[in-house]
Amino acid sequence: MTMQFTLKTLSADKIRSQCIILPVQAGQLTATGEAIDARLGQLLTAALKTGDLGRKPGATLLVPGHNGLSRVLLVSMGEEATLPAGKFAEAVRAAIKAVSATQAASATCCLHEALVEARELPWKVGQIVLLAREVAYRFVEYKSKPEPAASLKELVLPVAKEDGKPLARVVEQMSAVADGIDTSRSLGNQPGNVCHPTYLAEQAKKLGRKLKFKVEVLDQKQMGALKMGALLAVAQGSAQPPKLIVMHYKGAGARQAPIVLVGKGITFDTGGISIKPAADMDEMKYDMSGASSVFGVMQAVAQMKLKINLTVIIAAAENMPSGTASRPGDIVTTMSGQTVEILNTDAEGRLVLCDALTYAERFKPAAVIDVATLTGACVIALGHQHAGLFSNDEALSAQLAAAGKASGDTCWPMPLDEAYQESLRSPFADMANVGGRAGGAITAACYLSRFAKAYPWAHLDIAGVAWRSGASKGATGRPVALLTRFLMDRAG
Ligand code: BES
Ligand code: MN
Ligand code: ZN
Repeated sequence: MTMQFTLKTLSADKIRSQCIILPVQAGQLTATGEAIDARLGQLLTAALKTGDLGRKPGATLLVPGHNGLSRVLLVSMGEEATLPAGKFAEAVRAAIKAVSATQAASATCCLHEALVEARELPWKVGQIVLLAREVAYRFVEYKSKPEPAASLKELVLPVAKEDGKPLARVVEQMSAVADGIDTSRSLGNQPGNVCHPTYLAEQAKKLGRKLKFKVEVLDQKQMGALKMGALLAVAQGSAQPPKLIVMHYKGAGARQAPIVLVGKGITFDTGGISIKPAADMDEMKYDMSGASSVFGVMQAVAQMKLKINLTVIIAAAENMPSGTASRPGDIVTTMSGQTVEILNTDAEGRLVLCDALTYAERFKPAAVIDVATLTGACVIALGHQHAGLFSNDEALSAQLAAAGKASGDTCWPMPLDEAYQESLRSPFADMANVGGRAGGAITAACYLSRFAKAYPWAHLDIAGVAWRSGASKGATGRPVALLTRFLMDRAG
């Protein structure tokens, strides 16, 4: 059961709850908090007086209650009168984690009463939905004895009567986004032996049947007929056949040009003959995170019935070394007619994407955005905070950057000028597939730009943000929130 969110118009003296979550900002309770304090005979004033609630945003203090309120969770929102959006997110996450550690099955959340810099009520409520779902997410399919799930099943949000209707739409939309994020995370977390190109194609067909949109799956033979020589060269070393998965959602008139999202779907990246070192290679099961994110976006958009036309293309293949694999130095002809010398078989993402970008032309798109765990160099450039944003269109780039800021799922603009193109020169073919170590994320984007001349195009390199390593290893679902925000803003 996924978490339920219930909006209620309740005055503070009527609230009954297994746990009420109250913000404390600059040492002060909100109006609701004050009323609850009065109901509890100044219990909260006494609790605050102990100084046990930390000052940093996200510090929590659980107080046992009475009088229809079993527990009170005090949550610090920092020492200032307003707090930055990112700190608010941290505080909400910490609060949901703290409630989830109790036996409460339902909690009443008042965190949207906190004051957040440059953010209004709908944004705060939307964030609470996304963050609560983020904390509740688990991937336990392969645990024979999973730890029991948290008791928390419902969050009640007290709101004023006049806010009820617009906020109900926010909760509905953000629940759809959370569903898309969950799907994206679960596809990413699936191991490579389960999640191969055929599996992704089956999942797409299933989703299409459920949400009533059209799904086409092109097989190896059809890709051969289209002359997708680069995509096929990546797949040829694997026992798993490649798939080009195309999903069409029509939420607007037939004449409205679609947005096309293209996802890198390398279901496992060994590097091929240019094989990767053994350490952490398991994480290359996440090399289909571009694909899983656009898949999640499709689900969210179809669920919320957004008034927009959206086409999603997933270039799915497995990059393996074998007797049939591509060799360094092999030259292939792409669907665009341009030839490529494959100097490094580990630069396979751009090889599958270039043919998908050419294929996208047939949909006469308003814009094309590809999403890919494309380069380790992007992780070095931007770390794990922002995705890399590259574009041949300033307006599109600005819209994506803004959607990133609004959603908290951020990206950062990177250069893409002609000067970098030079490094892709090949003595034998129209270009090489690698441009050397310097500016590796940029030269990868330069390579893609040569196949994206027919439309406004942007590229998101999500290598640093798509999953977390270490003890909390797992897919993040980024950039589903960014892209759905972008599409919602476009739909108006
Ligand atoms: N999937 C990798 C990029 C990657 C590596 C993402 C590590 C996240 C963590 C991609 O296919 C790749 O191997 N890129 C090479 C390109 C190089 C050969 C020019 C890389 O980044 O090393
Ligand atoms: Mn690779
Ligand atoms: Zn890769």
